[in-house]
Amino acid sequence: MKKKDLLSVTDLSGAGIRSLISAAIRMKKDHARGRGGRPLRGKVLGLLFSKPSTRTRVSFQVGMAQLGGTAIVIPPSEIQLQRGETLEDTAGVLSRYLDGIVIRTFEQKELEAWARHSTIPVINGLSDFCHPCQILSDIMTIRESFGRLKGVKIAYVGDGNNVAHSWILAAGILGLDLTLAVPKGYEPLPEVLGEARSRFRGAGDPPRLCHDPDTATAGADVLYTDVWTSMGQEKERRGRLRAFRGFQINSRLLSLANPGAVVMHCLPAHRGEEITADVLDGPASLILDQAENRLHLQKALLVRHLSPKK
Ligand code: CP
Ligand code: NVA
Repeated sequence: MKKKDLLSVTDLSGAGIRSLISAAIRMKKDHARGRGGRPLRGKVLGLLFSKPSTRTRVSFQVGMAQLGGTAIVIPPSEIQLQRGETLEDTAGVLSRYLDGIVIRTFEQKELEAWARHSTIPVINGLSDFCHPCQILSDIMTIRESFGRLKGVKIAYVGDGNNVAHSWILAAGILGLDLTLAVPKGYEPLPEVLGEARSRFRGAGDPPRLCHDPDTATAGADVLYTDVWTSMGQEKERRGRLRAFRGFQINSRLLSLANPGAVVMHCLPAHRGEEITADVLDGPASLILDQAENRLHLQKALLVRHLSPKK
């Protein structure tokens, strides 16, 4: 059977995403009731992270433990890859030990090379291009919160970054109602918007891009943001602080959204920059549900990708 990678949400169909989310919601309930079984007994997942991580790393580790398997952290700085061993050889060797690997890195092309040279499933734990596990978990959180996805108006305010790219692609695949407000010069890649438009089959419009947070937020049910300076962009921080002024989620912006609107952030957050503390820690915030759902969604993903018969 062909191995299943998850390099981007575009590796899944709309039906695939919906059934993954349903499985994750079932597994979350089973876990709460002390049921769940050990479907990945004997399986070993590798975690190769070239950038820091709290949620992704720990939720994959805990998820494997709950599924009866093991996760091992492979620090890139401590393997022979750092001394010039090729990615091809490393991927080939690790494929003989592991049943799957989660990789957090910079270039999407590097992930694609890992997928080509591995015989085990490769899962994207965040790249500069996208963050599929995050957005799948966030869509699960929206479904739990609203009981549906159809008709939920999502506003993304902030940087046209990896998280925005995954939102746009997922909105294209699932027909979600998504409007993004980003500062000029920080737009998502045009080809990502193009791909979402070509995949969009929903009743409304494909993802829309504007430069005005108020326009994006008016009438929204979900207000989403991410950091203004992503990992690897630290040198741009001062310029970004200037460019993103006015793109903060605060109580004024939230007041433009629909009554009952929720606020989401993938975390880590910078209170006082992309979002104010009162909103991030306020009653509309779903941040901890989002973080928890990383665990449940990824467990469903691991069962599907590491034991294809399940
Ligand atoms: N949201 C997210 O991916 O968090 P980490 O960087 O802590 O994994
Ligand atoms: N855009 C952020 C997401 C962190 C989970 C980054 O890449 O740093």
